Amino acid sequence: MSSRGSFSGQAGFVVAAAGSAIGLSNIWRFPYLAGQHGGAVFLIIYMICIFLFCFPVMVGEIAMGRAARLNAYGCYTKLGNKHWGLVGLAGVIIGIIILSYYNVVAGWALGYFVEITFGSLLQKDDYEGFFGSFVNNVAANSIYSFIFLAVTAFSVAGGIQKGIERANAVLMPALLIILLILIGYSLTLPSAMAGVRFYLVPDFSEITAQTVFEALKLSFFTLSLGVGGLMTYGSYLRKEDNIIQSSAVVTWADTVIAFLAGLMIFPLVFSAGKSPAEGPALVFIVMPEIFKEMPEVAAHLIGGAFFLLLCSAALPSCISLLELPVAYFVDEKKMARKKVVWILALVIFILGIPSMLSFGVIPSLNKLWFYNDKEFLTLVADVTDISLTAGGCLMCIFIRNKWKMSNFNAELAFGNSNFTRSFARKYINFTISYVCPILLALLTALVIFDKVYNVF
Ligand code: TRP
Repeated sequence: MSSRGSFSGQAGFVVAAAGSAIGLSNIWRFPYLAGQHGGAVFLIIYMICIFLFCFPVMVGEIAMGRAARLNAYGCYTKLGNKHWGLVGLAGVIIGIIILSYYNVVAGWALGYFVEITFGSLLQKDDYEGFFGSFVNNVAANSIYSFIFLAVTAFSVAGGIQKGIERANAVLMPALLIILLILIGYSLTLPSAMAGVRFYLVPDFSEITAQTVFEALKLSFFTLSLGVGGLMTYGSYLRKEDNIIQSSAVVTWADTVIAFLAGLMIFPLVFSAGKSPAEGPALVFIVMPEIFKEMPEVAAHLIGGAFFLLLCSAALPSCISLLELPVAYFVDEKKMARKKVVWILALVIFILGIPSMLSFGVIPSLNKLWFYNDKEFLTLVADVTDISLTAGGCLMCIFIRNKWKMSNFNAELAFGNSNFTRSFARKYINFTISYVCPILLALLTALVIFDKVYNVF
């Protein structure tokens, strides 16, 4: 199956998987959720979710991908049967839906980058009003999200090594450099330490059921788990590479970047005397207000760098989200990669239009009567979030009951000769067999119950 392509080696795989994991959720969602849910407390619960549930699920996804050497649907059918294939197929469809709204938000980031660097964003007085009119400007938004999707498609069309691996090799170092420069700036601001303290000293009175739910959903999303994105990347991993080690590096890289994003944002927020609990508006309303107060040159440079950072985080994630359905059509329908890529990009762009229109242009999408008057985009994000934990739960059940632990362990032993005797084997076997399926089922059910009845 050499025609499917493969990563050049473990490093190429790790960078691409880390690129998939590190995305808008690390730089946009993690800081605002941490800001709303007691700072350090949220960080602690988030890390427990990451290491307890997510790490084993990531290992499971990559192992399934490499064992079957197929797309998500193909993995479930080859290692199981046609019925289980539906779980993989559902993952492919959910991936398409995630990309349709994710790309809209990535388009906002691109738009803000352009407006702050070359436009008049820094001369505005009312950033809430600006954000409102910006997201309502459908023509501009279509162009920005179209450009973003086109760059994504172009990278995926290049194939695994020449497209995906190469794009990540440029974007990930760029992301790290921009982030470190911004942290350096932010920590030298006058009240930086107040922000650091809020972020790092836990206040346990802030823990609620919501804190746990948000942390769980975010941890699955941020590691790109539950729909088979990493399963697809795993299918391009060589047999001699070490899955446990790769997963550990990806998990840590993602966690460290989210942590660093908080370390960049909270000192900025506190120095400007703003509230850390502004929610989704934190990045698009509060940050521009902060940049505006800076000396002019700094404002353009730091503000521009910040939105460029968002773009460079979002692009590799979009690439992995697009590769998920592309691999399905290439493997199962024997279609040519380039053709599938552009057709899917067009379909995804069209599917994203209701999300784009859900901020005022069409009032019925702005306030869904059946969903607490929230926007369409929020509904799509909530439904897909839940699908991730449900997908992770089903995958654990699949590995244990259908594929069998012995096959799973045999796959993990390739490229890792110490695996059979390692603690990692005991830990992963125990969590995949018992802890993850039970707790994920329970938490998924509770989150759905909460969404429907608003009890917690
Ligand atoms: N992990 C990315 C982020 O944090 C988003 C993402 C990429 C994703 N691929 C995925 C989410 C697959 C779920 C499934 O922004």
